[in-house]
Amino acid sequence: MYILGISCWYHDAASALLKDGKIIAASEEERFTRIKHDYNFPINSINFCLDFAGITPNDIDYVVFYDKPILKFERILSSVLLNVPKSCGVFREAGPLWLKEKLNFRRKIKKLLGIEEDRILFCYHHLSHAASSFFLSPYEEAAILTVDGVGEWATATVGVGKGSKIKIYEELHFPHSVGLLYSAFTAFLGFKVNDGEYKVMGMAPYGQPKYVDKVLKVVKINEDGSIELNMDYFSFPYSTKNTFSDKFIELFGEPRVAESFFFTKNSDFPVYYGEKPDDFEERAEKNQYYADIAASIQYVLEEILVKMAKYIYKKTGLKKLCYAGGVALNSKANYRILKDTSFDDIYIQPAATDAGGAIGAALWCWCEVLGKGRNQVLEHAYLGKEFSDEEIVKSLKEKNLRYEELDDEKLFEILVDSLADGKIIGWYQGRTEWGPRALGNRSILADPRNPKMKEIVNLKIKFREPFRPFAPSALKGEIKNYFEIENDNYPQRFMLMTYPVRENKKGVIPAVTHVDGTSRLQSVFKEHNPRYYDLISRFKEKTGVGVVLNTSFNLRGEPIVNSPEDAISTFLNSGIDLLVLKNFLVKK
Ligand SMILES: [Fe+2]
Repeated sequence: MYILGISCWYHDAASALLKDGKIIAASEEERFTRIKHDYNFPINSINFCLDFAGITPNDIDYVVFYDKPILKFERILSSVLLNVPKSCGVFREAGPLWLKEKLNFRRKIKKLLGIEEDRILFCYHHLSHAASSFFLSPYEEAAILTVDGVGEWATATVGVGKGSKIKIYEELHFPHSVGLLYSAFTAFLGFKVNDGEYKVMGMAPYGQPKYVDKVLKVVKINEDGSIELNMDYFSFPYSTKNTFSDKFIELFGEPRVAESFFFTKNSDFPVYYGEKPDDFEERAEKNQYYADIAASIQYVLEEILVKMAKYIYKKTGLKKLCYAGGVALNSKANYRILKDTSFDDIYIQPAATDAGGAIGAALWCWCEVLGKGRNQVLEHAYLGKEFSDEEIVKSLKEKNLRYEELDDEKLFEILVDSLADGKIIGWYQGRTEWGPRALGNRSILADPRNPKMKEIVNLKIKFREPFRPFAPSALKGEIKNYFEIENDNYPQRFMLMTYPVRENKKGVIPAVTHVDGTSRLQSVFKEHNPRYYDLISRFKEKTGVGVVLNTSFNLRGEPIVNSPEDAISTFLNSGIDLLVLKNFLVKK
């Protein structure tokens, strides 16, 4: 039996295919269209899933959408009506797409895939999130927390999963939203909403939470972690462009100019920005204020989430927590949830955002609608498209690139020597990762031991702000030697948990140690990615360090590469020194 899950029309469109209840393929639409966070109907991703399974639309038994469009539309309409005339623009802008597409999902699917309407189902948005975590987790029973911007009405839920059933028993409703609160600060700090939230998290360690009192003027936190936003400070219910109001600006001052250089006295002026300006001191001080704001909202976010998690623990007494929703990508907060509550384990699947709703909706259908048993744990993120050797060679030839085909033995020898020699490698193999993190199949690799490497990678490829750290991939057996980790958990595999680097290792892997002494690591398993594991093992043999710097294989502002063609184009348009497409090596 095949069940296709779909999420789209908000951000991070994706589809996922279950075969007899087991996830066999999943991918975000952005990987195919090359539009970052593409929210359009994921036709390319659906075609990939069908091709992967070798089936046609006739073979699909159910199509499940990750939320209930009518309820979502009702929320938008009531928000518009409550805020007339300020909100008229919202309806003018959003209305046509809703009436043309979003409210006609059944008809669209029937037309496109020929599926009968009674086989097209809709799952509540937060139930999709909850299902994406609990039904892929290793737990028979667990507490569930979902936190995001907004679904239909819910912005956070708490519940319990047992066997093949999920019960959501409390919800927080729009406009009171933890995700939208954080997004308002993301916009204030000059970043794109639904994209730059992790930059706020990265900026926070450059500041001190000096303005928590001010943040608490815009949000009231209750003992159970639920929140009430003071809506005088926010404009998202009536504006598609601004998330915060003039009153917010009165409280926090002028927003940071988007795309402006960020640096503080602590970060100094990165060389890849160019020459140090004469007004460095003055601008650094201004940036320090914004870093303090970032630290303050991050602090408040963590307080809210820890309170929520403590509350669920008290309610359920369960020791395992399944967590999902866009806020679950905040790896620093995830660390706090585990460290500062009585939960002894936490599961988060790699695409915790709305993309993950595609998997969740399909699993909800299998488990809850059809009443079938769960039959898997999602052990790794390699669910996307793989390209054949023939396709790789064809792409290389099209660009007239000279390449060598080498066996792993010879290839890894060259790669390890090159890494140790300060070279940067574009590493491409196997199936694309599911979720926003590159985990060793679409990664750019470098030597973590070189304190200058962060600057070198930025200078040659990424051009990222200094507050955006690079992450380490470490051999599973090595993680406890390098990071203050007591127990293994799944988020470690998916770069979803930030840990302090051990004091005696900070000088060993400086390029992947953030300014606050932490790292958002990936624990690499031999059984799930043998070639990547072997490469890092060989690096360890040569250098004594079982860790490499791993950043996603993409240019700034682009989605992670998908096809060999994307990888070649990124290689040619950046300072990457060596490109490895499976066993094909290209040198610059
Ligand atoms: Fe969501």
